[in-house]
Amino acid sequence: MTRQFELSTLGVRAGQARSQFNEHSEALYLTSSFVFDNAAQAASRFTGGGDGFVYSRFTNPTVSMFQDRLAALEGAEACVATASGMSAILATSMALLKAGDHVVCSNAVFGATVQLYATILSRFGLETTFVSPTRIDEWQRAVRPGTRLLFLETPSNPLGEVADIAAVAAVAKKAGALLAVDNALCTPALQRPLEFGADLIIHSATKYLDGQGRVLGGAILGPKGPVMDGVFGFLRTAGPSLSPFNAWVILKGMETLELRMLAQSERALELARWLEGQQKVARVHYPGLESHPQHALAKRQQRAGGALVSFDVKGGKEAAWKVIDSTKLISITGNLGDVKTTITHPATTTHGRITPEARAAAGITDGLVRVAVGLEAVDDLKLDLDRGLS
Ligand SMILES: Cc1ncc(COP(=O)(O)O)c(C=O)c1O
Repeated sequence: MTRQFELSTLGVRAGQARSQFNEHSEALYLTSSFVFDNAAQAASRFTGGGDGFVYSRFTNPTVSMFQDRLAALEGAEACVATASGMSAILATSMALLKAGDHVVCSNAVFGATVQLYATILSRFGLETTFVSPTRIDEWQRAVRPGTRLLFLETPSNPLGEVADIAAVAAVAKKAGALLAVDNALCTPALQRPLEFGADLIIHSATKYLDGQGRVLGGAILGPKGPVMDGVFGFLRTAGPSLSPFNAWVILKGMETLELRMLAQSERALELARWLEGQQKVARVHYPGLESHPQHALAKRQQRAGGALVSFDVKGGKEAAWKVIDSTKLISITGNLGDVKTTITHPATTTHGRITPEARAAAGITDGLVRVAVGLEAVDDLKLDLDRGLS
């Protein structure tokens, strides 16, 4: 299906491949391998000949439908699915980089992404410099002759800092490096990084693409060269592939993606405005608020603010934990991207493994609370938070 269709149409239609039974809903192909007509066909398929499937570590018809639908939504030439968002970042790095290469990474990316570059890939000769996502001068200064990849997440989790994709893409281009953007928080329903000059998109499909907190998944998108010749080659050999069952769940989740992202963003904005008026709240971090330092950029780059709202409670950890522990409706859980609203204390959970100095540098205070807004009525969410704030 080509790009002349609107996003809503692509979300429910793109990528579907019907079997001989002409099923209306996408089929789930739970099979590890595929049968060949004869030995010659098997030999040909193993060397990439013909269109048929071989083995589900390589790909599978349900996984292909997921890949094609997401590629259509992002406007990307190619998409490869992975077992999780982290394996998408790992596969991209393992496939496209080598020992001695240098990476420039935003310091406001998901905690495990920092760990991956700083403590795991560093053991394989990859050096990473971390920079502020919003300081273009830091990106420029960090680049050097061996720089091959620039990596960012926008808006960031949990503080919602917005990086200027086009400006960082210009730095990458000048350096002859690739820019990869983790688009898990906005999804193509709100932001399409390739349109701003990014080379690659990373997804944790576990988040909003599934949308109901059921399964793990990930993806890498971009031009055929790096994605198919590079990342796909690594994946079929190393194996962190997406299971067909998970692909099917996410594929069906994507049918409501645009509706959910817009509705959850609307609720998040209303909640953020309400939080700004609360006495016990020192500061609210949400790109959709006029008070947000990159509000104008967010408006240019994103269709809406997204569903993640963070706020600093006066009184530090004790006060933040009181807000969390006083909730009766909102779920205390680390995940985000669900239609059920979730609440976390980043300093002692997602960012608990980094040093207090690094946390402070990243702006994650002991009083910070993160709410990933779902689809409940905003008045019910306000009541639930008000108990710990009053
Ligand atoms: C922005 C972002 N990227 C990547 C990941 C990792 O995804 P996964 O848990 O699917 O491995 C997460 C997980 O929370 C995330 O929030």
